[in-house]
Amino acid sequence: KMARQFFVGGNFKMNGTLSSIKSIVSALNDAKLDSNTEVVIAPPSLYLIPTRDHLRKDVEVAAQNVYDKPSGAFTGEIAVDQLKDANVNWAILGHSERRTLMGETDEFVASKTAHATDSGIKVIFCCGESLEEREANQTVDVVTRQIAAVTKQTKNWDQIVIAYEPIWAIGTGKVATSEQAQEVHAAIREWLKKNVSEEVAEKVRVIYGGSVSAKNCKELAQCADIDGFLVGGASLKPEFADIINAKI
Ligand code: G3P
Repeated sequence: KMARQFFVGGNFKMNGTLSSIKSIVSALNDAKLDSNTEVVIAPPSLYLIPTRDHLRKDVEVAAQNVYDKPSGAFTGEIAVDQLKDANVNWAILGHSERRTLMGETDEFVASKTAHATDSGIKVIFCCGESLEEREANQTVDVVTRQIAAVTKQTKNWDQIVIAYEPIWAIGTGKVATSEQAQEVHAAIREWLKKNVSEEVAEKVRVIYGGSVSAKNCKELAQCADIDGFLVGGASLKPEFADIINAKI
């Protein structure tokens, strides 16, 4: 396995208050975290600034979304320059909750990914299949279709982490087995090798998301093509530190 830095993201989704997020930040500040793991947490946008202000400097902060236009009449949206102004260097894009609940298309997610990375915001790009799609053996088709949309709009793969999140595993407690996850991660890398470049295929981090916990993270972390995790529910709990430390 080549040396790709292990990456763990915490996606708080629409959870938390000023005070509960302050406690999570304090706990992370006091925790012993593997210095070989890159860590990024994504609180709701309202809490990005206080989180960045109080969080240890070796942990980065991500927005859960960002728009694909520089500024203007786009009510409710946030611009990349506003993130940079708040010292936020990352954004999660294409999360299945946004794709399914807000109707975000592959092209729109790709456009946002291109704009963000062109403007200096790194992206955790999410992809993943539904249970129906998995049962119809369409997993690799769906995931590579979502990634192909990105390759049409940007070459900035050095600023992208791919998060494979099977929808059936998100928030369900039904984690993918390490074989299931490894199989898809390897297929993603194979697709990148054929359609982008060998270098990108080797270098890009492919992380897994969907019911990751302190219990199951160590086994998943052993897989050759699993370079970390995107954690939802467990990122709000003390066990998040154990997930960050999955490799030790
Ligand atoms: O983005 C992370 C997420 O969708 C996984 O959520 O709660 O299953 O860890 P959870």
